[in-house]
Amino acid sequence: MSEPGPFEFRHPARRILFGWGVIDRLSEIAKAHGARRAALVTDACFRDSALVERLTGALTDGFDRPPVVHFMPSREPDTDGVGDCHRALAAADPDLVVAMGGGSTMDAAKVARIMLANPGTASELAGFDRRHVPHPSLAIGVPTTAGTGSEVSEMAVVSEAGSDVKLRYRSAALPFDVALLDPELTVSMPRVVTAQTGFDAFTHALESYVSRGANLMTEPMSRSALSLLARWLPVACDEPTHREARAWCLVASMQAAVAFNSTQLGLCHAIAAPLGALHHVVHGLANAIALPAVVAYNEPMFGAKARVVAEALGAPTAREGVARLRERVGLDRGLDEFVASDAERDAIAWAAVKSGNMAFNPRPADFDAVRGVVEAMRRAPGAGVSA
Ligand SMILES: [Fe+2]
Repeated sequence: MSEPGPFEFRHPARRILFGWGVIDRLSEIAKAHGARRAALVTDACFRDSALVERLTGALTDGFDRPPVVHFMPSREPDTDGVGDCHRALAAADPDLVVAMGGGSTMDAAKVARIMLANPGTASELAGFDRRHVPHPSLAIGVPTTAGTGSEVSEMAVVSEAGSDVKLRYRSAALPFDVALLDPELTVSMPRVVTAQTGFDAFTHALESYVSRGANLMTEPMSRSALSLLARWLPVACDEPTHREARAWCLVASMQAAVAFNSTQLGLCHAIAAPLGALHHVVHGLANAIALPAVVAYNEPMFGAKARVVAEALGAPTAREGVARLRERVGLDRGLDEFVASDAERDAIAWAAVKSGNMAFNPRPADFDAVRGVVEAMRRAPGAGVSA
């Protein structure tokens, strides 16, 4: 056995708690921290919900006042929405910030919270590996989807208001201190949201597994997430109340994010970003449109991992397995539904080539190569399978 190779691993969350009903430990965790002034940031869809009432109750007894609750609009966050969230947090002066919702809400809350401790607008604080001053509050992330894994990552993505620019953030001050993973919160997700967010998580698992940054610390996480999502995502889509499926999908989305927080992603996310920014395609669906064609391009460079991926998906090849999974969860869509012209396809390819994720893609890709992948995404079903 040869000695281990060099690696870098960033452990983003100090504490991850998983379990049915674990949300009920919020009060105990808050009290152990000595919190007196809580703020809750959550999705607008939870307004007047029993869930918000439950959390508000948990954050009232033993506090100086009931929590300030800020609802994020039901769309991908932009700098205006983050600015509003920051103002609400600044007025609340919290020593505990709880963000409960999908990845968009958690990302917005992460950025708004660092604005409490750092001068500047949301746009000015964007960037990778910034030295943001940490805010002293305890930050708790509570995902209600099994998708982005934002609850355990050092990263966030926010759109620049009024433009097509996606701002990316990464700093040691961004992550939550505690992630509470309660599968009960994911049970009410509609099928299409389960499929889209779950396919995003699957893409994280696959891209981190074959990333140039993959290493002995990340690969077990990626591989576990890959196998779990291949098995349980279709079940969660078909049977929303299936306990095992919901639980495993939530665990897997977290594992994939712990891995990609160190490995970064690849060509699929490089293409999904402009698809979202320029054509407003929902992130998980953008990944579903791109992934089979991306895997068809990358698979020759997977090495021994090609077999692992194919076996996890129960298919003869990785590319076929990915296409089958996409079809199985009802996301077998072609790019032509969203993008009409060669000029627009060129723009997507140019944006992808400039993505920071390209350095981690297992196979180098210049503009012509990426443009070929984008071309292979046009048709559905089975886009890219025969490439
Ligand atoms: Fe993603």
